[in-house]
Amino acid sequence: MSAEKYFNLYNKCVDIDSIQFCLEDFKRFQKSKKIKIEKEKNSIAILALTRREVEIYFIGVAESLRGRGLGKKLLKNIISFSECYGADFIILEVGVNNIPAKNMYFSYNFIEYGIRKNYYRNSSGSREDAIIMKLNLN
Ligand SMILES: CC(C)(COP(=O)(O)OP(=O)(O)OC[C@H]1O[C@@H](n2cnc3c(N)ncnc32)[C@H](O)[C@@H]1OP(=O)(O)O)[C@@H](O)C(=O)NCCC(=O)NCCS
Repeated sequence: MSAEKYFNLYNKCVDIDSIQFCLEDFKRFQKSKKIKIEKEKNSIAILALTRREVEIYFIGVAESLRGRGLGKKLLKNIISFSECYGADFIILEVGVNNIPAKNMYFSYNFIEYGIRKNYYRNSSGSREDAIIMKLNLN
């Protein structure tokens, strides 16, 4: 799949306030052995791979299709992939107010592992703390 198609899917699945990546990033991701993109028709995740860990940079579901289990399905695939890859853990950051995402991670036994104060800035300029969440795989 082309970088443009991945980028279009990403744009369908990201909230406008939290866009992080541009088309150039997706072109770079495609060349990198350290980035894996997991996708389904209406959901996408961007994973960074190191020897011991998988970091979820982004996971999202098309807005009109949220709340139907697609996020959980993709996260389940990410966990299976990470186990096969041999990672010791999965780690990610999520906005402290992002209740759907936090609940999704809790439902797969992620734990709160730390906090980054004022980590995100939204379009109105206000700041939001990020929670670091972790799932041990061993
Ligand atoms: C977070 C996100 C990926 C969840 O995807 P989804 O397909 O809507 O989620 P699912 O239907 O699979 O539900 C998964 C769990 O999330 C929680 N959840 C989903 N929507 C929720 C809501 N509106 N309120 C509270 N919890 C919610 C529930 O715990 C649910 O599990 P349950 O149905 O067994 O109780 C989706 O909301 C999204 O794309 N958000 C925008 C991008 C984003 O914020 N990504 C996270 C960045 S770290």
